[in-house]
Amino acid sequence: MANSSMEIRALLVGATGLVGGHCLGELLYDNDFSAVTVLTRRPLDWVPPKLTVHVVDFDHLRDHAEAFNVDVVLCCLGTTHRAAGSPEAFAKVDHVYVAELARLAAARGVPRFLLVSAVGADPSSPVFYNRIKGRAEAAVSELPFKAVHILRPSLLLGQRWEPRPAEDWGKQFAPLWSWFLWGPLGRYRPVSAETVAACMVELAKSDQEGVHIHYFNT
Ligand SMILES: NC(=O)c1ccc[n+]([C@@H]2O[C@H](COP(=O)([O-])OP(=O)(O)OC[C@H]3O[C@@H](n4cnc5c(N)ncnc54)[C@H](OP(=O)(O)O)[C@@H]3O)[C@@H](O)[C@H]2O)c1
Repeated sequence: MANSSMEIRALLVGATGLVGGHCLGELLYDNDFSAVTVLTRRPLDWVPPKLTVHVVDFDHLRDHAEAFNVDVVLCCLGTTHRAAGSPEAFAKVDHVYVAELARLAAARGVPRFLLVSAVGADPSSPVFYNRIKGRAEAAVSELPFKAVHILRPSLLLGQRWEPRPAEDWGKQFAPLWSWFLWGPLGRYRPVSAETVAACMVELAKSDQEGVHIHYFNT
């Protein structure tokens, strides 16, 4: 059921990314969101009146506690091993920063936290990427939010401006391998970033309580 007040204040993290960019567009367009705040490490090109942008150093998120005076946090933060440069640097973005954002949000009494994670996330997985994603999910889920929504997409489809060879390879063969992914394997099918963002924004309006995991069986 939808939130009755429909004057939702949202904090978006990762707005310059693929999913986050689509989320930002939806949040700005949707009149149910009265104010949108973005935490980013680089400025945005366009800042309409409904939007407040905080350009921050993610190693010092604590200095921006006032940005967490919101009803919901949407976290689309993430990097790749390639961009981060090392497993530790990857874990810092995908786990440490996410956990810190969630701690700050919980400390401010934010009721809902939404996280884009990944299919296969599992804190005890032997696969490093899945383990880090699982740890981030666990860090968010153990905090006293009224609601946590974890979205677990498979390969994201959408236009990127930087090359990602492994993902490009996956996308090229997506129509072929999607054909074999039925039933419980359907969640491993690629999904458009736009679909993930639209789902996230709808969940940001939901007053459903508890921890929920969402897959995309497209
Ligand atoms: N790519 C896939 O196929 C795939 C599949 C499943 C799940 N996921 C997960 O889905 C989520 C969203 O993915 P996406 O492809 O939309 O991500 P993306 O396009 O790579 O965007 C990631 C966002 O995180 C920010 N970011 C990265 N490193 C940062 C740092 N060190 N400090 C501060 N901000 C930083 C980026 O900011 P800048 O723009 O400044 O870099 C950007 O806003 C991620 O958690 C990802 O792991 C991705």
